[in-house]
Amino acid sequence: MPASRNSPEEQEGVRVKSALIQLSPEFGKVSDNLQHALGLMRTVKSQLYVLPELFNTGYTFGDRSELLRTAEDAQRGPTYEAMLEFARQRNAYVVYGFAEREGAHFYNAANTVGPQGLIGTYRKMHLFGREKLFFTPGGNPAPVYNLPIGRIGVMICFDWYFPETARSLALRGAQLIAHPANLVLPHCPNAMMVRSLENRVFSLTCDRVGIERNGDVMHRFIGTSQAIGPRGEILVRMDPELPEARVLDLNLELADNKQLGPFNDLFEDRRPELYDEFPLKHMVAV
Ligand code: ACM
Repeated sequence: MPASRNSPEEQEGVRVKSALIQLSPEFGKVSDNLQHALGLMRTVKSQLYVLPELFNTGYTFGDRSELLRTAEDAQRGPTYEAMLEFARQRNAYVVYGFAEREGAHFYNAANTVGPQGLIGTYRKMHLFGREKLFFTPGGNPAPVYNLPIGRIGVMICFDWYFPETARSLALRGAQLIAHPANLVLPHCPNAMMVRSLENRVFSLTCDRVGIERNGDVMHRFIGTSQAIGPRGEILVRMDPELPEARVLDLNLELADNKQLGPFNDLFEDRRPELYDEFPLKHMVAV
């Protein structure tokens, strides 16, 4: 299909090479998963690499001993060291999901690493399903990092179901939302088109593929990693079953324009005073 006149491909401006790395991790095999991820990352040249949620451990934890064996300190351990080395060699930024251990707590977390070291760690605030058995929910807002390549926001998988997450990232200036995921529900890819549209931001949802079993528990992951533009357009949508690496050239400045025609501005027209804590007398009695 030819690109539409206003598509990001046709716009002038500084481009940021952004890669989606869709993986197929094997549960508990941290070292193998790390090597496979690095192998795929090396096949593409990019300034930003986004990897799936829990890319190095797999997803289907059965008990805490499996986390004790595989979780890592945010800034120490083989996964962090390898990603830092990669970021330095490539002069690039990497956003990756991993199981973080801090003291007696485990977090479903995402690190953003650059040539200068760790930029920050985000701990998933909306835990999905059985994640609640093993992980502590994060207690801090999803972050926006002001990087030389652009303003990058980070959220993790099920955060998509809570539109406040993407909205708060956009209100704090994110031009692109990096979204490591392990998708099991089918709605996320289309929902993220709306998250991008309603916030005028790019989003890179980076998922895994495959089926994972642990005892009686089974998850089937839908792949379909995707890049969405600030008008809600699909820039790339990947295979539902195969690991793959894809790179896009994105003009992130397009996300700074929140104007919808001459009369509307997506952010200035908001009416937060009417959205919550409104007086009870305005509630409709039934
Ligand atoms: C999910 O949040 N991994 C479904």
